[in-house]
Amino acid sequence: MRLLPELFEKNREWAASVLKEDPSFFADLAKGQKPEILWIGCADSRVPANQIIGLKPGDVFVHRNIANVVVHSDFNCQSVIEYAVSQLKVKHIIVCGHYGCGGVKAASENHHVGLIDGWLRHIRDVRQKHDSDLQDILDDGERFDRLCELNVVEQALNVCHSTVVQSAWESKQELAVHGWIYSISDGLLKDLKVTIGGPEDIASAYRVAVAQVA
Ligand code: CO
Repeated sequence: MRLLPELFEKNREWAASVLKEDPSFFADLAKGQKPEILWIGCADSRVPANQIIGLKPGDVFVHRNIANVVVHSDFNCQSVIEYAVSQLKVKHIIVCGHYGCGGVKAASENHHVGLIDGWLRHIRDVRQKHDSDLQDILDDGERFDRLCELNVVEQALNVCHSTVVQSAWESKQELAVHGWIYSISDGLLKDLKVTIGGPEDIASAYRVAVAQVA
């Protein structure tokens, strides 16, 4: 069996370089975490949360799945949101998708791929919901980009409608939900202008976000 020794070597090098810069870094982290951000992103290997926003271990609480989908019956994702909001008291939840997302691509094609079909169904629902707007986009690439964006907007909306986030807002906890998209081809993030700081923001932010032209 191959034990990947090179990864352990890289790990030792990394830990040593961090200590060189900040000798108490790991000792401080060992005392606990106080991240202000929950990141909900795609599991795609090209979209590593901490790296693309230049933050260190301890700065971001992270949940990733295929195509950054937030489903109310997904206990994994909902538990992450609950822990982040109720215990860690994060101030921001960022739903971040990316252009060229394989999950969104698979959902936009109609062939069946197996177990993942049930998961992709949630993105197919997004596609159906916005079908007439998407059909107005004649270029295939632009239509795919727009579906990636709309998927972020809809999943951010699902975060806003979750029991945990609704309860946090009811108790006046400071919490904002954001929808961002990342471009793998240039490494840059784009704000999809779906920034929601309370239930009163949901309808207008959603309207603005879905009205944007890709
Ligand atoms: Co993806």
